[in-house]
Amino acid sequence: MRYMPSTWITVLVLVLLAHQINISFACIGVCYGLNGDNLPSPKDVIELYKRSQIQRIRIFEPLPEVLEALRGSNLLVTLGMRNEDITNIAASQEAANDWVNTHLVPYKIDVAFRYVTVGNEVIPGPLANYVTKAMNNTWNAIVSNGLDRVRVTTVVPANALGVSYPPSAGAFSDEVLGAMTDVATILYYTHAPLMINVYPYFAYASNPEEIPLDYALLNSNLQTVTVDGELNYNNLFDAMVDAFNTALEKINMGDVYVFISETGWPSAGNEPYTSIENARVYNTNVKKHIHDQVGTPRRPGRMLDTFFFAMFNENLKPAGVEQNFGLFYPDMSPVYPLD
Ligand SMILES: *[C@@H]1O[C@H](CO)[C@@H](O)[C@H](O)[C@H]1NC(C)=O
Repeated sequence: MRYMPSTWITVLVLVLLAHQINISFACIGVCYGLNGDNLPSPKDVIELYKRSQIQRIRIFEPLPEVLEALRGSNLLVTLGMRNEDITNIAASQEAANDWVNTHLVPYKIDVAFRYVTVGNEVIPGPLANYVTKAMNNTWNAIVSNGLDRVRVTTVVPANALGVSYPPSAGAFSDEVLGAMTDVATILYYTHAPLMINVYPYFAYASNPEEIPLDYALLNSNLQTVTVDGELNYNNLFDAMVDAFNTALEKINMGDVYVFISETGWPSAGNEPYTSIENARVYNTNVKKHIHDQVGTPRRPGRMLDTFFFAMFNENLKPAGVEQNFGLFYPDMSPVYPLD
């Protein structure tokens, strides 16, 4: 009996700890793209993240003014390595050390780096076979600087899959099979997730006759369930994520988590498929889906950290939908509320 109190304290501590882990994992992130000539200063942008209670930020390259602005912000940072740097860093441990020494080490005390993404959508492509080596060299540099809570990964687009439907048939294309097997192997050994870009919008917009809008927007209802073997899908987002999970299983890497490095819906540029309302509904539903931690039918309950694309409408991107993915206008007013 006299041990009861300490048992209860242990339980309480564990519950509190779990709650805290929960919070730090289930939070929403937003990609901070800078392809605009009318965007606010990085300092103002980081303040906007904090005001908007966005806890995670993904940046595509290590810009010093952005890293400076992140100091002391407590935002959890995913930092991208530029695609142009991959071959050098794959070729030389020293180049990887330099990269980490330049872009992480000077900020490590007051910037909360969580992930480094080695390349953005380079698999498939001519750099695909350099990714694993570059990841490994970067990981070695990170570990030798005592930064090993930072995980090293890469970002792959939907077209890394040769088959993506139904989800249970998901498979990497022959072209990327070797590269993805190597990448998944290093992810597995370093306990890092694979980052994937998932855009139900593009699937829907290219095939609106066959894909119900509600299915693409995660407006789940019984009319829009698709059956895949023993699993039922009530939204396209889950189906797209699980196609990757199946593809990983097929290379014996089903234990590697997938996280979402980008998802979103443009608010303009291709009416009627794009609208402020569709964008609002999609992002609100994804946010709820992630917060609920229901996982996907193939990975029930599994964490699914997600970044929305993007913080701002970016006027230097190609005209049309690409300029209209922002949650905010460049003047920092919201395009729509994200509840
Ligand atoms: C990763 O780096 C370590 C240390 O240099 C090396 O022993 C290992 O073979 C490398 N692995 C890959 C997949 O390159």
